Amino acid sequence: MIQDEAVLTLGATSLIGGALCALPHRPALICVSRTPPATLMSNARWIQADLTDPEWGAGFADLGLRRALALAPIWTVAPVIDQLANVGIQRLVSFSSTSRFTKASSPDPTEREVAERLTRSEALLIESCERRGVAWTILRPTLIYLEGRDQNVTRLARLIRRLGVLPLAGDGSGLRQPVHAQDLATVALTALKTPAAEGRAYDLPGGETLSYRAMVERIFEGLGKHPRILALPPELWRLGFTLARPFLPGASAQMGARMEADLTFDSKAAEADLNWRARPFRPRFPAEDA
Ligand SMILES: NC(=O)c1ccc[n+]([C@@H]2O[C@H](COP(=O)([O-])OP(=O)(O)OC[C@H]3O[C@@H](n4cnc5c(N)ncnc54)[C@H](OP(=O)(O)O)[C@@H]3O)[C@@H](O)[C@H]2O)c1
Repeated sequence: MIQDEAVLTLGATSLIGGALCALPHRPALICVSRTPPATLMSNARWIQADLTDPEWGAGFADLGLRRALALAPIWTVAPVIDQLANVGIQRLVSFSSTSRFTKASSPDPTEREVAERLTRSEALLIESCERRGVAWTILRPTLIYLEGRDQNVTRLARLIRRLGVLPLAGDGSGLRQPVHAQDLATVALTALKTPAAEGRAYDLPGGETLSYRAMVERIFEGLGKHPRILALPPELWRLGFTLARPFLPGASAQMGARMEADLTFDSKAAEADLNWRARPFRPRFPAEDA
């Protein structure tokens, strides 16, 4: 049994990493990131390292670690499998994204490149793990949220706070399955100790499928506000977005184009193998969080 051994955690400052560190009954963590937090927590040790640095593994080479969770972008993880195997890692659970499917035919070349990068990185990770005898599992979440921290739901909540109303492109009928970072942290630990999950990839949608418009209504509710939604013709929404773009770093006009597209995935395999039971979408925002 290696259940109670410490887990090497790459990308521990991510949304999922934040939720993982806060779990009450988690194992000890050896956390790697380029920017460890100023406040450290119990039962976790932080190593400052950049995965693109060939020497990044020096800080934990002698710790006898056998299990790793990769929460950093999979394109930073796939090239370092040899280094993980060299320090004794035998079991790896790595996050990818359902964007490998949803962005594959986007008209935006940058989004298509993201999908291609995810696809290539998954293939490299699998090939490298199999060559080095590392048992792998890939987890692909849909849109992740963690109240107060994420760039999806929390960003919309902040916009709602600022504007009092949220403009949609069209009627926002496209289906969404937002997934909570804490559910993902829990399932990642389950995957680490589930032999049936070895050599498999799972899509991990949230526990509720709802339209983009209904998702926005829930965000209003989470802020304690009555929903005020403005359904704009897509061309008008695009014009507004172009003007507001400088204030929305990381946002893309394709977000508007997608509001009427369904982005849904099946969770049956994860339910069967990983006891995946994600929560319904009921975000709650304390005053200071959005
Ligand atoms: N956000 C979403 O909606 C979403 C949806 C589907 C899938 N995913 C996937 O789920 C995982 C977690 O997503 P997230 O949004 O929670 O992640 P995130 O907040 O973007 O965090 C990424 C993490 O990777 C670390 N990292 C990046 N480059 C690194 C490098 N060169 N060396 C060391 N660490 C590095 C960052 O740490 P430092 O910056 O501190 O170094 C950070 O801890 C990722 O694999 C992501 O691709 C995300």
